[in-house]
Amino acid sequence: MHSGQLDCATGCAYGLRYAVEPRRVEQLKLDDLLTRNRKWADKIIAEQPDFFEQLARQQQPELLWIGCADSRVPANEIMGLMPGEVFVHRNVANLVLHTDLNCLSVIQYAVDVLKVKHIIVTGHYSCGGVAAALANEPMGLIDNWLRNIQDVWRRYKSYFDQLPDDNARVARLCEVNVMAQVMNLAETTVVQAAWQRGQKLAVHGWIYGIDNGILKDLDVSHQDTSSIRDTMDARIKAHLRDAL
Ligand code: CO
Repeated sequence: MHSGQLDCATGCAYGLRYAVEPRRVEQLKLDDLLTRNRKWADKIIAEQPDFFEQLARQQQPELLWIGCADSRVPANEIMGLMPGEVFVHRNVANLVLHTDLNCLSVIQYAVDVLKVKHIIVTGHYSCGGVAAALANEPMGLIDNWLRNIQDVWRRYKSYFDQLPDDNARVARLCEVNVMAQVMNLAETTVVQAAWQRGQKLAVHGWIYGIDNGILKDLDVSHQDTSSIRDTMDARIKAHLRDAL
């Protein structure tokens, strides 16, 4: 645990090392965090005295970010955005599931009330959730959540099987998982209804490199009611073929 990583306890075939949260918070102590917060707020007020007063009145973000809960992928910081500029939902492995009332409620509020113009599903390489889904090692309750990623993998198993090694399989599954979630997002009743009434809204899929800090557009944007299912399926297959 001291290295910040945890070896796969059962020596799984993928030889994965699951990332665990760094221990910095324990070392800092909570009082230190409050002190840091005060310095941060003071710095912002020094630059723009009415910043928080303006924000307190309303939020008008144009973006909804659906990302992984991983501590290394904070939405605002990596896009260089301030508080008030992005509405955020995060869960393990950035899934958009049609039975997840939490995620669906965030999407509904963002689209119907805040009227965001873009929803970005952002995955990241070296995603512990994706790696765990591929390794298929029992970890408890979360296994049920990760089944959804295994469903994506199984759909394209013949392509994944041809990839050269497990690192390549994890990396490609991180990408393909984003694409599948963009499709799920586009098919939600909330997004479909917005498009049907002519509301300007686009969905996108991005992926973030933890080792270089770079966001990459996976080029799967969609912004109308035309069927996304067949085009996304073809896009995923072409993407996996290119990786061979
Ligand atoms: Co992740």
